[in-house]
Amino acid sequence: MKISNICCIGAGYVGGPTMAVIAQKCPEIKVTVVDINEARIAAWNDENLDNLPVYEPGLDQVVAEARGRNLFFSTEVDKSIKEAQMVFISVNTPTKTYGEGKGQAADLKWIELCARQIAAASGTDKIVVEKSTLPVRTAEAVKDILSNTGGGVKFQILSNPEFLAEGTAVEDLQKADRVLIGGENSQEGKEAIEALVEVYAHWIPREKILTTNVWSSELSKLTANAVLAQRVSSINALSELCEVTEADIDEVSRAIGADSRIGSKFLKASVGFGGSCFQKDILNLVYISRSYGLTEVADYWEHVIKMNDHQKGRFAKKIIKSLYNTVSGKKIGFLGWAFKKDTNDTRESAAIYVADHLLNEKANISIFDPKVKETQIKFDLNYLQTRSKEENDTLVSVEIDPYVACKDSHAIAILTEWDEFKSYDWQKIYDSMLKPAQIFDGRNILNHEELREIGFRVYAIGKPQ
Ligand code: NAD
Ligand code: UDX
Repeated sequence: MKISNICCIGAGYVGGPTMAVIAQKCPEIKVTVVDINEARIAAWNDENLDNLPVYEPGLDQVVAEARGRNLFFSTEVDKSIKEAQMVFISVNTPTKTYGEGKGQAADLKWIELCARQIAAASGTDKIVVEKSTLPVRTAEAVKDILSNTGGGVKFQILSNPEFLAEGTAVEDLQKADRVLIGGENSQEGKEAIEALVEVYAHWIPREKILTTNVWSSELSKLTANAVLAQRVSSINALSELCEVTEADIDEVSRAIGADSRIGSKFLKASVGFGGSCFQKDILNLVYISRSYGLTEVADYWEHVIKMNDHQKGRFAKKIIKSLYNTVSGKKIGFLGWAFKKDTNDTRESAAIYVADHLLNEKANISIFDPKVKETQIKFDLNYLQTRSKEENDTLVSVEIDPYVACKDSHAIAILTEWDEFKSYDWQKIYDSMLKPAQIFDGRNILNHEELREIGFRVYAIGKPQ
């Protein structure tokens, strides 16, 4: 079947960029991205491309090229489902915050709602594509819902997980290492797989489009994230060992990464990994393993998260210890709030947890991030419910000028590796701070030698102290 009409449910960090690139690369396919969040759809339709709800380098040009031509953003969910031959489900699948599996299992309520809505709105046969990251065997439940409420309409379910990383989404989509498509081994299943292969084959070489059974595809996505996160936790575990042995984590990382069996990527020590995926997907893997009675498997993966919590905690404790064991009433400047550079996403950002730790000690935190707005920062802190909104408002200020955020502070903490931090006038910042002026580089991005020459005391992750 040749696809000419695609609907995607969920206009978030994955649905938006993914569909924009499909529309850009396949001008003859009409792509409609729908969402129940009206404000989000309005922002995707905003004439001013600076107001798109997702910040990603290069995304504005892709949207400018395709929007209104064959790319549409809409709140008319039923209508778009009805018209499409292929429906992607790209809604959020966060960790459950209630009931059975609370704190570990994926909350699939939005997936089920989507499946029911597709069943109700479809008048013709559809290929339903799981784009969201889902626990292995979710397709079984989706199929069950669709086949029991579909009124004779036939559905094929494919798993097509997304491997893009935020901050490089457009590049990752345009030059994907691989595209993964899982489907049924029946004649209809194979035809559905081929229909989706043909969409991607517009720009992805065929040998990079991997086809598997549905369960391998679902499980590969969870485990790809687990293995990536495990590398970060491994290097972060070694960073602590470096600090007590005078080894240098960047040197160790370079030395081990040069081994082609290990590879150089994802070995950058940091204040801890964040983002909407790693923690959620590992917790889910832990939950699934435990539910099959695989205790050792579950414990093994759970430790990747424990190591990450430890890394965030020890960074905060280092700040407190260096400030003579008290930060009460002291101003600390935070540079960066996003979970990594080149994104406005703050979900599970290490900055949130480091701030929370310091706020428990009654620090005054002044925050600057080039792409994150004050409302988001306050939302993130209030969401933790560690203290009242009023207390957070008293203790935290958000600045639009980094120099103001740093002025009169006792210490500065680098939480995100934004490139612009490297080119700040560090002498000017030093002059405006209380002495001894301290810097805690949670991303190892600054030139520490130069900073020490200016007079700063510098702490960096995994570096000789
Ligand atoms: P997101 O929260 O940014 O976007 C999800 C969107 O779905 C929201 O705008 C929400 O309003 C909408 N939605 C929820 N229920 C809906 C419904 N019934 N009808 C219409 N719209 C609905 O989430 P995201 O970051 O785009 O992630 C989506 C999925 O992709 C998740 O499963 C995630 O694990 C996976 N994923 C994310 C990334 C990433 O880097 N963010 C990468 C790969 C995979
Ligand atoms: C991740 C996966 O990389 C991507 O394939 C998947 O589709 C979604 O989840 P994302 O969370 O967007 O992508 O960003 P990623 O680049 O993986 O970074 C995750 C976190 O790890 C960030 O906080 C980042 O700063 C941290 N990290 C990454 C390190 O601390 N060190 C590294 O070497 C790499």
